[in-house]
Amino acid sequence: MTTVLKLGGSVITHKDEPETVDREALDRAAGAVGSTVGEVGPLVVVHGGGSFGHHHADRHGVSTGTGSDDAEALATIHGAMTDLSDRVIGALHARGVEALPVRPLSLAHRDDGLHLPCEGIEAMLGEGFVPVLHGDVVAHTGSGGTVLGGDEIVVSLARTLGAARVGLCSTVPGVLDGGDVLDRIGSLEDAAAALGGSEATDVTGGMAGKVRALLELSTPAHVFGLDDLPEFLAGDTPGTTVLGGDR
Ligand code: IPE
Repeated sequence: MTTVLKLGGSVITHKDEPETVDREALDRAAGAVGSTVGEVGPLVVVHGGGSFGHHHADRHGVSTGTGSDDAEALATIHGAMTDLSDRVIGALHARGVEALPVRPLSLAHRDDGLHLPCEGIEAMLGEGFVPVLHGDVVAHTGSGGTVLGGDEIVVSLARTLGAARVGLCSTVPGVLDGGDVLDRIGSLEDAAAALGGSEATDVTGGMAGKVRALLELSTPAHVFGLDDLPEFLAGDTPGTTVLGGDR
């Protein structure tokens, strides 16, 4: 009964200030994980790029669709993400979570689709560890290297691991329609009016991209804010539930 939890990059960083962690938010998130890790069962954490990944990816013109052959640029983007990952893992360790880093660049690749083998992650889970993955750059056949967003990682992991629960902890309390949190989304059309692009630099598509990725899942996924992370980890269904069409 594995849970896959994504901590949005905008939640744990100050997205408009390059390479700045939101320490308070990261500590709150780590605290919520730490206080429930004994009850939640196997847990995989994925975090986004926020002001670490997007800033560098944008500067080098790399996105999910536009690749680069410049290894130095790709290594710089990856390096920024490993710096953020180290911070996330440090915060989790400080809260008693047995977190271990997993680097998508070393594990995954794309051709027509994403290939993200999970045997090592399953072995970590079997030993009681909490694998921590992050948005990254990956080799992309015919395109050099492209960005792999955390949402895509979440979808792939949830499928391969047969996850029971998926949560996306965001800067908003759910998918918003005006000021209201939508309770459920069954298709992109359901939420079309509410789904805008992210205002800050975001190479992987803001809330619309998140919902599109979650709709590909057969597991219900929950989009909620940091205030509701303890509720999600306790087994509740805060925020917006996204139920894909291939159920
Ligand atoms: C982006 O990951 C990773 C890079 C730009 C290298 P995400 O797309 O998952 O990041 P957030 O959560 O939107 O910040």
